Amino acid sequence: MKFFLDTANLDQIREANELGILDGVTTNPSLMAKEGIKGNANVKKHYKTICEIVNGDISAEVISTDFDGMIKEGVELSKIHKNIVVKIPMIKDGVKAMSYLNKKRIRTNCTLVFSAGQAILAAKAGATYVSPFIGRLDDIGFDGIELISQIAGIYAVQGFKTQILAASIRNPLHIIKSAEAGANVVTCPLSSIMGLLNHPLTDIGLAKFMEDHKKVNSK
Ligand code: E4P
Repeated sequence: MKFFLDTANLDQIREANELGILDGVTTNPSLMAKEGIKGNANVKKHYKTICEIVNGDISAEVISTDFDGMIKEGVELSKIHKNIVVKIPMIKDGVKAMSYLNKKRIRTNCTLVFSAGQAILAAKAGATYVSPFIGRLDDIGFDGIELISQIAGIYAVQGFKTQILAASIRNPLHIIKSAEAGANVVTCPLSSIMGLLNHPLTDIGLAKFMEDHKKVNSK
């Protein structure tokens, strides 16, 4: 399973990249706004910087919601770097745009997916990734992980090549459960990745090893 970081924050991207476990980055207009990145030129420059830090797929989201706008933006974004994947929302024009970009060999990540039906459409349109938002489903009382399992089952039976990118991850358990459910990728905040590290027995065990080593070696 690949690990993507879900942020536009360069410090966090560098920190995660230094761990050696980062396979890519996803962003969205809200995450770009959070970092204060505005204006077409600055947005493109920011994506280029991310591509220079991380050697992996970088999702860059369109802000148009009509077919012509999405394909124009998609083509422009794809020219920034070979690792750019164009993020397209799961709407009618989005499906059309993904099909078009797929034929032009421009890779896409279908975002804002909340049902198995939407995931089937994304696969049919030739999306490279489909992004079910599991945290946002959990937030309204639906089971986000169950959706990952359902999509994984359908894709396996049908032989769809689209990769399942579990998005809207809120905690380390979401990462573990996504792995069990068959996600190909998780995109997470840095805090959720770091949360996987922690176990009190590791800390206690390490302190004891250090103490025992010191007892003998300080004599
Ligand atoms: C996916 O690519 C989105 O950027 C993201 O995972 C949304 O997560 P949120 O629900 O925490 O905003």
